Amino acid sequence: MQNRNVTVIGLQWGDEGKGKIVDALAKSCRYVVRYCGGANAGHTVVVGNEKFALHLIPCGFLHKGVMNVVANGVAFDPGVALEEIAALGRRGITLDASNLLISAAANVVMPYHKLEDSLSERQLGDGKIGTTARGIGPCYADRAYRMTAIRVADLVNPDALRKKLQTILPIKNAILAALYQAQPLDAEKTAQEYIEYGRQLAPMVCNAGALLRRAAARGERIMFEGGQGSMLDVDHGTHPFVTSSSVTACGVSPGAGVPPSAVGQVVGLIKAYSTRVGAGPFPTEQANPTGDRLRQRGREYGTTTGRPRRCGWFDAFAVRYAAELSGVFELALSLLDVLSGLKEVKVCTAYRAGGEVLQDYDPDAVAAAEPVYETLPGWAEELGDCRTFEQLPKAAQAYVKRIEQLVGRPVGVISIGPERSQTILHNTRIEDLA
Ligand code: GDP
Ligand code: IMO
Ligand code: MG
Repeated sequence: MQNRNVTVIGLQWGDEGKGKIVDALAKSCRYVVRYCGGANAGHTVVVGNEKFALHLIPCGFLHKGVMNVVANGVAFDPGVALEEIAALGRRGITLDASNLLISAAANVVMPYHKLEDSLSERQLGDGKIGTTARGIGPCYADRAYRMTAIRVADLVNPDALRKKLQTILPIKNAILAALYQAQPLDAEKTAQEYIEYGRQLAPMVCNAGALLRRAAARGERIMFEGGQGSMLDVDHGTHPFVTSSSVTACGVSPGAGVPPSAVGQVVGLIKAYSTRVGAGPFPTEQANPTGDRLRQRGREYGTTTGRPRRCGWFDAFAVRYAAELSGVFELALSLLDVLSGLKEVKVCTAYRAGGEVLQDYDPDAVAAAEPVYETLPGWAEELGDCRTFEQLPKAAQAYVKRIEQLVGRPVGVISIGPERSQTILHNTRIEDLA
């Protein structure tokens, strides 16, 4: 029997509007699961005049009956999670073991990870990645290194945590002092801080993989909420200007402890143009008044760091690659409203490198690639009040259809504003969204 699960991922460089679609789909799901990334993510949900920006808590938090799960693949920062829980509490939204669970096997972001992240970036100078400084890379590095990793299970076992930190901290202090002349961190103080986090989180700590496999076997609907975007994937993105986890639909299985068959239908989020925060190749970037206009209309400033996002034209060649990689079932197109008022709109259909048009997308060739553009007519009308595809200006309809052709997947949902109601369902085949 085909399961009813759904996976929502970004097909660009993050910030495609995943939070909004996850919130829209969550009402018909029993579980909403984060499986990659950590507090580097910033997912926004807007309901009326209320805006929520979440970093670690899955975007099912507004729906009764939804269990939000932080799975093993997440780089978990307990301080950030507790702050987020407290901030939601102040707004009348209670998160406790009845609606939030955290995998005991998730790796913990420690203070030395955040320190190393920002110090190494500072040392790299112009060659830096432009990370969010949330300690993501160093945390995942320790996961792979194994003996220096701390997991959520250690937070709820004070003796184990103390013992581990007594071994790990001298190593970290030596490295940080040698490389960056950093002051040493105190093992006991660090242990006390994290034991307190563990005490507060203990009721929510669980064997998330077992829980999700059981749910999948019972046919309960699970949504996997991607973080970042496919072009930032550690293996398949524009390396080394990427994040450190598997953010595509291919990362769901190891990141959540479920079989690949549990991924379900994959919804690929795309914004109607491109943005990127941080360094790295971006062939369609418009570092000019066109890019400035997109940034201004799209309010393109990082949800996590507040940095201005680099803006440019839609890159159909990159998105097609990302859609193929994750086996995308359907596209959701966001921020189409931002393009209103442009005389013409460009779409990148291919890359040229060394005088040749590339046959296959190759992330390693992006830096040297020249985009090949197709120009389409723009439209003047504002789109925020459109509720059907037919209400969109003809030129906007044509733009959507051209994206479908170039990417090779249907667009089932069109978002024309941040608010829940600013959504057009366009022949979507996603269950309970249609
Ligand atoms: P995420 O990381 O993919 O969840 O996306 P972010 O929350 O970082 O960035 C998307 C931003 O665009 C947020 O501020 C959303 O409220 C906003 N947004 C989402 N969909 C739309 C849309 O269709 N139009 C406009 N104008 N804003 C949108
Ligand atoms: P959401 O889930 C946009 C980018 C950073 C940097 C690179 C590596 O909101 O779409 P990291 O801190 O992960 O080591 O930084 O990845 N990045 C994101 N860009 N949206 C995100 O998440 C991102 N998460 C990481 O800007 O270029
Ligand atoms: Mg974001």
